[in-house]
Amino acid sequence: MRKNLVLVIALVFVIAFSGIVLAQEEEISLTVAGGAVGQEKELTEKAAEMYMEDNPNVTVEVLETPDLANDRLGLYLQFLEAESPEVDVYQVDVIWPGDLGEHFIDFYDYGAEEVVDKHFQAIVENNTTTDGRLVSMPWFTDAGLLYYRTDLLEKYDREVPETWDELEETARYIMEEERAAGNEDFYGYVWQGDAYEGLTCDALEWIYSNGGGKIVSTDQEITINNEKAIEIIDQAAGWVGDISPTGVTGMGEEDARAMFEAGNALFMRNWPYAYALASQEDKPTAGNFDVSPLPAGDSGSSAATLGGWNLSVSKYSEHPEAAAKLAMFLAGEEVQKMRAVEGSFNPTIRSLYEDEDVLEAVPFFGSLYDVFTSAVARPSTQTAPQYNQVSELFFQAVHSVLTGESDAQSAIEYLELDLMDTTGFETGEPTQP
Ligand code: GLC
Repeated sequence: MRKNLVLVIALVFVIAFSGIVLAQEEEISLTVAGGAVGQEKELTEKAAEMYMEDNPNVTVEVLETPDLANDRLGLYLQFLEAESPEVDVYQVDVIWPGDLGEHFIDFYDYGAEEVVDKHFQAIVENNTTTDGRLVSMPWFTDAGLLYYRTDLLEKYDREVPETWDELEETARYIMEEERAAGNEDFYGYVWQGDAYEGLTCDALEWIYSNGGGKIVSTDQEITINNEKAIEIIDQAAGWVGDISPTGVTGMGEEDARAMFEAGNALFMRNWPYAYALASQEDKPTAGNFDVSPLPAGDSGSSAATLGGWNLSVSKYSEHPEAAAKLAMFLAGEEVQKMRAVEGSFNPTIRSLYEDEDVLEAVPFFGSLYDVFTSAVARPSTQTAPQYNQVSELFFQAVHSVLTGESDAQSAIEYLELDLMDTTGFETGEPTQP
């Protein structure tokens, strides 16, 4: 009897003590630095709630970061260079793993082998450093698309343009008609013309579709100084103040979307996230638009820049294991599916492109599948860790042509010299498949 009592007391003591230890060890607070473009913040918060429901000892906070990729990078660099533990998980652009990889943990140390094969291999490779560390979990992929107003093309009996020349012609014609009918604010084409990463994406699409290569080739030659590139940059500069508002040189994704959704643009270049938003019932665009591949230039093929975002865990996090587990949940099937259905964010998990709910919500994930799998990567791998500088020189040069400060020929000649200085690479001829 006495022996039993001692045992019971001992047991109660052990349980209570381990409970305290566990509770103390497991109260974890994690911060995710994420985007707030369109529905991004709400959806990240929703996924964080899902995680917290299953992991009541973890509190997840979502830190809102600037919309423009360069501003976001600036903020991240402040945290990372200070080795700050304040942010545990970073939403990382597809162009950054090379530049930022040294600050992130390797997901292979936290069980990623079991899940990587589900994702697009090209993205996994993109997120893997030269020494084989997986520094970012694929979260969503992106590719540039042409949004067009189905009602207006029908009204004026025009086709979806397949070349930049056709786009220009149709945009001008319908813009003039719509204005004559009373909509003075109507424009033909809106896109990302501000001096930032978004312009690098748009301009790469013009250039690659025109046969002008991708700025720096995969084998590290600077190829931007060529006729095809110069010609199409000049053509795009001609759109400013004509089929596109003068203010397009200050527009990011969200500005273009606002104009399109207000019913004031016939065509828009944007990423897939705009599809779910422009479809919302209260918008004039609901039921009146669709998407297609961007127009082609002289190469005869259309080009979409590869975009997308990944999740990395900071080396300076106080809870790398818990943060890696959270990042892998966010990048997992359940959350990717929710984001695809509710926000038209492209999954990086291949099987979700065959999921009925996903295809019903976003039919073009099926019909434009090839656009996503053949998107053109920016030269971030071959120029790492200097991609950001390369891109900045590039978009500044293109921007100076769009605003009329420079002509394309001289801007590109200076750009070539600056790129040689920055990278130490030689020049070469553009090659593309
Ligand atoms: C989108 C893309 C990203 C790109 C950015 C440019 O967010 O996913 O890769 O850098 O747009 O604005």
